[in-house]
Amino acid sequence: MELTKGIFERRSIRKYEDKAVTEEQVKEILWAASNAPSWKNLQPSRYFVAMGDARDAVADMLPEFNKNNVLNAPVLVVSCVKKGTSGFDKEGNAVTHLGDGYLHFDNGLAVQNICLKALDMGLGTLIMGLYDEKAIRAYFEIDDTLEIVCVLSIGYPVDQPAARPRKTVEEIAVFKK
Ligand SMILES: Cc1cc2nc3c(=O)[nH]c(=O)nc-3n(C[C@H](O)[C@H](O)[C@H](O)COP(=O)(O)O)c2cc1C
Repeated sequence: MELTKGIFERRSIRKYEDKAVTEEQVKEILWAASNAPSWKNLQPSRYFVAMGDARDAVADMLPEFNKNNVLNAPVLVVSCVKKGTSGFDKEGNAVTHLGDGYLHFDNGLAVQNICLKALDMGLGTLIMGLYDEKAIRAYFEIDDTLEIVCVLSIGYPVDQPAARPRKTVEEIAVFKK
């Protein structure tokens, strides 16, 4: 798919077909994630992939509305970052005014690659910021060197939702000449 078309057509998908996605497909999508830029190329993102019974278990760790949003989605991905990496020096001090912000920045770049690569493969995604963090951490035995940033669903979309309104460039940018 042409890149600009992909950027325009990516939508949050909240209705999925009851159709399997293979581990190979997920690996291809995560390969795209691994190619995202990151602070000093530290690549802080880590992923926990839930398929089959694990998918159902993780779906139960979502609030009811998100569980309904991802009904039938065969894959849920927990996206994490390795703490104290992006934006930190070797002594573990944050080196910019953003503190640990670049960790989440890097994860966001990788997650956008996940969404766009999935779209290119005919798949849809939903980024979820609301989930039971403690339950997911315990389920995957995620230690405290990692921070959970979001949960994503991956699956075949039932349809293409209408685009939500966006601010104009004039509203979001200041040009000074
Ligand atoms: C960090 C983040 C967290 C989000 N959390 C949720 C969520 O918990 N549930 C949900 O249905 N959508 C969630 N969304 C999706 C947004 O609502 C969606 O991206 C936005 O409304 C724009 O729609 P679009 O993605 O179709 O362009 C989240 C998006 C982001 C980037």
